[in-house]
Amino acid sequence: MVTTHDLNVSRRGFLKLTAVSATLVATPPLVAKASAPAAVRPPVMQKVAFEVNGKETSLTLDTRTTLLDALREHMQLTGTKKGCDHGQCGACTVLLDGRRINSCLTLAVMHPGAKITTIEGLGTPDKLHPLQAAFVKHDGYQCGYCTPGQICSAVGALDEIKRDIPSHVTADITSKASFSAPELRERMSGNICRCGAYSNIVEAVSEYAGAKA
Ligand code: FES
Ligand code: FES
Repeated sequence: MVTTHDLNVSRRGFLKLTAVSATLVATPPLVAKASAPAAVRPPVMQKVAFEVNGKETSLTLDTRTTLLDALREHMQLTGTKKGCDHGQCGACTVLLDGRRINSCLTLAVMHPGAKITTIEGLGTPDKLHPLQAAFVKHDGYQCGYCTPGQICSAVGALDEIKRDIPSHVTADITSKASFSAPELRERMSGNICRCGAYSNIVEAVSEYAGAKA
């Protein structure tokens, strides 16, 4: 058996040595061993052509680009707003082949040949769409962030009523669909207004539709 005497170390020195080695064993390394970086795959690009506000448009996009980002980031059509980016607020509503759609929930490359209308395609500051004029007249907005989506959604909702498409509050789905404030509120319930301008929005759309709010 080897003793401290054989190693020519004093008992006190041996105890010190043991304590230091125990600390070294118990202390985890401060820096974890770096793992190899994950390989980054290049984006898959694809060409897509559609009509936006009456203009033929062709874009080459990362296939993961939403229609909302294609409009805002690639075409600078920033009238369409990004609220939640999760299909929950309606700020990004545009018309796609005449139907309302949350543009944050769909990929641009899914719509070759589509006809897309954004708020910029409905009216201009010099020549407002009558629904835009009704929103101005009835104060159908405060901050205005939800307004482009509200107006595109209202155009789509009124078109659904015209085509006799029932909603969840249509009492008799065999009768002709007609405009009413409850119908409008239900059909536009996916368009959130954080400023709470709802009653003015209903008044504006009702006036445009030629109905009583
Ligand atoms: Fe699309 Fe909110 S941004 S629903
Ligand atoms: Fe501000 Fe609707 S006007 S969110």
